[in-house]
Amino acid sequence: MPTNTQPIPHSIILGIESSCDDTAAAVFENGKILANITATQKVHEQYGGVVPELASRAHQSNIIPVVSEALNKAGKTIQDIDAIAVTQGPGLLGSLQVGFQFAKGLALGANIPFVGVNHLQAHISALFIETPNLQLPMIALLVSGGHTQLVWVESVDSMEIIGTTIDDAAGEAFDKAAKLLGLGYPGGPLIDKYAAQGNAKAYDFPDSQTAPLDFSFSGIKTSLLYFLRKEIDKNPNFVADEIANICASYQHQVVNILMKRLKKAIEKHKPGSIGLAGGVSANSELRKAFILMGEKFKLNSHIPSFEFCTDNAAMIAMAGHFLLNAGIQSTMDAAPFSKNNSHNFQTRTP
Ligand code: KG4
Ligand code: ZN
Repeated sequence: MPTNTQPIPHSIILGIESSCDDTAAAVFENGKILANITATQKVHEQYGGVVPELASRAHQSNIIPVVSEALNKAGKTIQDIDAIAVTQGPGLLGSLQVGFQFAKGLALGANIPFVGVNHLQAHISALFIETPNLQLPMIALLVSGGHTQLVWVESVDSMEIIGTTIDDAAGEAFDKAAKLLGLGYPGGPLIDKYAAQGNAKAYDFPDSQTAPLDFSFSGIKTSLLYFLRKEIDKNPNFVADEIANICASYQHQVVNILMKRLKKAIEKHKPGSIGLAGGVSANSELRKAFILMGEKFKLNSHIPSFEFCTDNAAMIAMAGHFLLNAGIQSTMDAAPFSKNNSHNFQTRTP
């Protein structure tokens, strides 16, 4: 069970992340990230997506070297660490188990507290690494390979989901489209690259009906599938001939789907600022549209540096710092969880 204890105000925190296919460790001291190390697993590229069993095996080989490298880079040993923050969920259970059990063992051996961190809350906490005093309340658009959410951020430890995808995540919309187009994995950066040379108005892709602040990406993916089948029937070289225009048009509609809901959320909830989080925030068109949205509503728009956007352990250490400061720690019976079942982010028991 998470327990409420005395806050740990000044502390050196080791953050550990292993929720999907990146093994990561970071060291945080006094509001500063001293080291932020990520080992990305290349083994999944050939399969066009993450293979859970291979991911958990790779985490097992990577975890000790990655944590050692982070401590070395920060000039610290485990004896210098005051607390450990580790991703508890959501994510792939086999992957989460590796980081979580490792963190527990390390905390037990070093006789220091540890805290389980919600991965989604951590993506948003990443916004505070470079801008500690951003204006709250904020609406964060969290867009990653596994999640697409609008989050009302009241304070660093009070966040509520106000909109969510009802099917695929935005990153999945990119990755699955890339697979249909015969591009590699992860597909987002490749679609982004081809889109830069294409015409976004060349083809029309649909937006699905949802509740005002919710997202749906399965329709656009299916429409791409049928569109490609039809066009390839007429011209077998259609994909090769038109790759830039297809990518530009598809990307444009994904960004449009995201921006429409963000606009509605701003109009309804009137935040003090807006923030973008998660791996898809690397998308060049999304970044531009997000900044324009901030300008339109005269709001500061925050986008973290790329190293803090994709899965990383600095965001876990940052979120852990907020939880520990609020007096929250985990106990040894805590276990990872695969799904976020609540509209609030919490650390939980199974
Ligand atoms: O946050 P993240 O690193 O991992 C998850 O928690 O899922 O996000 C990974 C996702 C992948 O779906 C990848 O295709 C997408 O972020 N992505 C992009 C771009 N760079 C990464 N999507 C669109 N454009 C990009 N430039
Ligand atoms: Zn993530």
